[in-house]
Formats: sequence, structure tokens, C-alpha cells
Amino acid sequence: MTLPRPDAPLRLGVNIDHVATLRNARGGVDPDPARAALLAQQAGADGITLHLREDRRHIIDADLPAILQAVQIPINLEMAATAEMQAIALAHRPHAICLVPERREERTTEGGLEVAGDATRLTSFIAPLAAAGARVSLFIAPDEAQVEAAAQVGAQVVELHTGSYCEHCASGDDAARDAELHRLFAAASLAQDIGLEVHAGHGLNFVNVGPIAAIPEVVELNIGHFLMGEAIFVGLEAAIREMRRQMNLARM
Ligand code: PXP
Repeated sequence: MTLPRPDAPLRLGVNIDHVATLRNARGGVDPDPARAALLAQQAGADGITLHLREDRRHIIDADLPAILQAVQIPINLEMAATAEMQAIALAHRPHAICLVPERREERTTEGGLEVAGDATRLTSFIAPLAAAGARVSLFIAPDEAQVEAAAQVGAQVVELHTGSYCEHCASGDDAARDAELHRLFAAASLAQDIGLEVHAGHGLNFVNVGPIAAIPEVVELNIGHFLMGEAIFVGLEAAIREMRRQMNLARM
């Protein structure tokens, strides 16, 4: 596949949820997600992403103000579209809010948000967040109907779910990988055409990040699990710097 030349700088949002996963495995305060956020900032991250799940399995309520205080770069709060989460977001006012689907039994955010089928509720959910100055993003599958619905409900940003693409990369199914990449390209192009900013994320690592970083409309990647795993071996700063290098290479 020939990739068009990207025209926008690519930001890296570092998701620090799994520092909290490790902390919660023992209880107590170590390792501290706010310290990880600060290190990520020092290593050149453009933003910090954290997902306050309804079951608080990793990030807990106190982490949000601690991280907001620890760093100067923008904070992107991932959350379910519930009244509880809306109140927390309005109380703390992070720079960005990414609405994600949530199921208790899932290990991670498995699919994209159903926007088209929940448009009325999402429109009234997003309005007060946007009025409070947050950039509201919707985490969706690379599906054109969902992209169009995202614009209709008042989102400013879509984050395209790269999970299926990453799974096909890992399984070695090249045809499925290319088909998913094609869907990502089409969704990114449509989103930009209708005025949405385009982000992408989920499952990205050094091996699979290149083609996603090369999608010209994508201006931000949010990456967590792989970076935290890699940090065990090389340290967080080195892991982030290498991801940055890979993203820049793909973007050239
Ligand atoms: N973007 C969103 C919306 C997510 O829910 C997640 C996972 O929490 C990520 C990005 C990061 O995915 P990963 O941890 O697989 O890099």
C-alpha cells in the first residue's frame, strides 16, 4: 500500500493506567502514577492519558488531581459516559475527555463506542463537557457511520480503535491487517473532511505503530500497555523516546 505524505505533526499521549495496575496489585502508593506522568513529560510525551474505570481497577479518583498537579502537558481523561464520570470530569476539568465503552468483564476497552445508536443521549452528555471547555473525543471503531455520528453528537475529536489492526499484525494475517488499515485510512479521511480531529490508539507497539503513525490525518496516538511493559526492561524514558523515534520515522 502506498502511503500519502503526512502533513500534521504527530503527538504522543502516554497512558499511565498500568502503573496504577501494578500499584493496586499490592495496595499502597508504589509505583506512583503521578511520578510516571512526570517522567513521561520529561521524556517528551505530549499528553498524559488515564482511564478512570467505573470499577477503579487501576486509576483511582485521587490519581486525577495528583496527575493534573504533577504535569504541565494536557491530560486526557478516558471514561464511560455515565453521570458519575461526568461529575468527576466537570469537577476536575481535564484538557480532554475521551468517551469509551466499558464492560466490567472486559480486560481492556475491547470495542468502539456505539455512537450512531445512542446519539440523543450522547448529545446531551457531551454538551456540558464541551461548554466547560473540554475537548471531547469518542473512541470508535474505524466505521464511517460512527464517524458521521460522532460529528452529529458534538464531539470535536474521534480516536480510532486500532485494536483489530494490531491483533491482525500479531497473528500474521496480512490480508486482514491490510483490510483493517484500509478502514482506518478511510475513517480518518472522512473524519477530517467533516471537521473532526483524528487520534488513534490501542495495542500499538514498536512493530505495528509505523503504518498508523503514517496515516496523514492522525495527529495523536495514545499508547499505554506496551510502553509500560517495555519500561520494565529499558526504563520508561527510553521506552517513550524509542516510540517517539518510531513515530517520527514513519511520519517522514
Ligand atoms: N486509547 C483508548 C481510548 C484506550 O481505552 C486505551 C486503553 O486503555 C488506549 C488508547 C491505550 O491502549 P494500549 O494500552 O493498548 O496502548
